[in-house]
Amino acid sequence: MRIPPHFIETVVQRTDIVDLIDSYVPLKKAGGEFEACCPFHEEKTPSFKVSPNKQIYYCFGCGAHGNSLTFLIEHQHLEFIEAVQELATRAGLEMEYEAGTTPTITEDENELYNILMQAAEFFQQQLHSPQAEVAQAYLQKRDLNQEIVREFGIGYAPVGWDNLLKNFGASQQKRELLLRAGLLKVTDEGQFYDFFRNRLIFPIHDGRGRIIAFGGRVLVDNKKEAKYLNSPETSVFQKSHTLYGWYQARQQRSLARVIVVEGYMDVVALAQYGIRHTVATLGTATSGEHLRQLFRRVSEVVFCFDGDEAGRKAAWRALETSLSELKDGKEINFAFLPSEDDPDSLVRREGTEAFYAILDQAIPLSQFLFNRVAQPFHLQSIEGQVSFHGEMRDYLSKIAPGVYQDSLLKQLDTLTPLVDKRKVRKLSKSPESSKLSDSMRETAVPIMPTLLDKGLRLLIQHPNFAHAVENYREPRLQLLHQATIGDTLTQRREYFFWKLLDYCHSQPILTTGVLEEMYRDTAELELIHAFAVWKHPLKDEEDKKQEFLSIIADLYIQSEFPFCDGHRIKELSKKLNHGQLTEEEKQEYLQLTQKSHV
Ligand code: UTP
Ligand code: MN
Repeated sequence: MRIPPHFIETVVQRTDIVDLIDSYVPLKKAGGEFEACCPFHEEKTPSFKVSPNKQIYYCFGCGAHGNSLTFLIEHQHLEFIEAVQELATRAGLEMEYEAGTTPTITEDENELYNILMQAAEFFQQQLHSPQAEVAQAYLQKRDLNQEIVREFGIGYAPVGWDNLLKNFGASQQKRELLLRAGLLKVTDEGQFYDFFRNRLIFPIHDGRGRIIAFGGRVLVDNKKEAKYLNSPETSVFQKSHTLYGWYQARQQRSLARVIVVEGYMDVVALAQYGIRHTVATLGTATSGEHLRQLFRRVSEVVFCFDGDEAGRKAAWRALETSLSELKDGKEINFAFLPSEDDPDSLVRREGTEAFYAILDQAIPLSQFLFNRVAQPFHLQSIEGQVSFHGEMRDYLSKIAPGVYQDSLLKQLDTLTPLVDKRKVRKLSKSPESSKLSDSMRETAVPIMPTLLDKGLRLLIQHPNFAHAVENYREPRLQLLHQATIGDTLTQRREYFFWKLLDYCHSQPILTTGVLEEMYRDTAELELIHAFAVWKHPLKDEEDKKQEFLSIIADLYIQSEFPFCDGHRIKELSKKLNHGQLTEEEKQEYLQLTQKSHV
């Protein structure tokens, strides 16, 4: 059972806090306020004040403070919902629950659904009227075909203040209904007028296909008006519970994953290109409720936000919300678009396949999380690892206990070998899962952070392995040349690795101790030391050597990205702008630009 926020506001609004508190704690008037001895702590002279103007209480003595709901919760020990119910009863209001959380639909809601549907039909008709020329031209400009326009029920709210009003608002009762539906607004003087004017209209459905709201887009981008306007929240429409396109997407028969994008236009454009399992939030962040809705139906959600800074911020916010919704068996991935793109522009320019290629390269939530949280820390130092470890555990503690959480915790531990884990408190709430994780910890081979670090550990512990790398000189020198000192930790570490390999190769006999000595008083010493004492799961030296060689081979293969300093991206994007990319180069470009975001 959920109570709509507007109802909570209403009950608080209708309550006089002085009356309420006075019924539990007799109050005395003192100037413009009321006072009493504080009910929250022992005292002889009153320091508990209630302000009728501010509708709050506060105590100078103990710091207790809040509004009428807080008072019932703190003083009467009511649950939040009970407190709302109590205030509603006192105010003579009937309780309201969110759509879908109570079994019955009220008469009023039925009327709302009806009028919203009629309005949608009206907007669609208007799109085909003579005055809709500009709107039709706009559709053409955005390259939306009639089929998709019909499928999504796109319409047009004409120029003028009273088109809808004149058609549907004959009586005061009707006007008030339209107001409750979010289709009209009203001035202080009681004058009604249309909410949507001269906008392209996107009807918004609930999961059952009922129209619950609209989004409207201006036809000419300008600084004066918001580009998109959404219906206000009503008793049938809540943004945090609604995903644009979800009703259409769930019509798909085999639906395994859903793509979450930012905009209406992205959903519609992708659908036109045959990608029909896409939803968009309505100008708000992704909520836990959004994810719960999706996960009831699919096991994978891919966030694919705009390639700009805002899009990347939105992705991170989505990650933070996602953590508490993650469960074993559910998967969340993040796809990153080239910086100047949104899904709409990308699919139109590059086509369906290219869009799918980007989805295929989506990175798992765990990778996004680790990369992003690690960024500010200096992971070669104990200090850096301890801070990183602490911060990561805060994030991981939000994930439900289970194999997934345990696996991430384990990965964290292997990434932070310098952290003494004995003092770190257990996260798991359920005893069963912690037992499981302990046994897993003993038997499983630790997951290692990166290929490069794996190699670095082996090399530091066995500098002589460098000699085993035969006929590698050519590519190795090239890699060393490319791995110039960069700013990021990864870049610095790459440089260090190739440099070290080069050095080890040049020395006939070398031990770890000598290496440490070599790097005394350098920034690398701590890293060398940490990696030198790290316990490798493989015992046999020959096995380790083989692993080292295969790591080197993999690093060569991977080298396309790790050593890419942006030159290649620039070169390709220049060609792209001139439409000169071959299919192969296009793939390369997508891959590079995607990775460079992370
Ligand atoms: P965008 O501006 O990225 O939307 O806003 P878009 O779909 O790419 O727009 P086009 O391509 O220019 O038509 C993303 C979403 O943010 C909300 C809308 O839900 C929009 O779809 N938004 C945006 C608003 O609510 N108000 C605004 O003024 C702008
Ligand atoms: Mn767009």
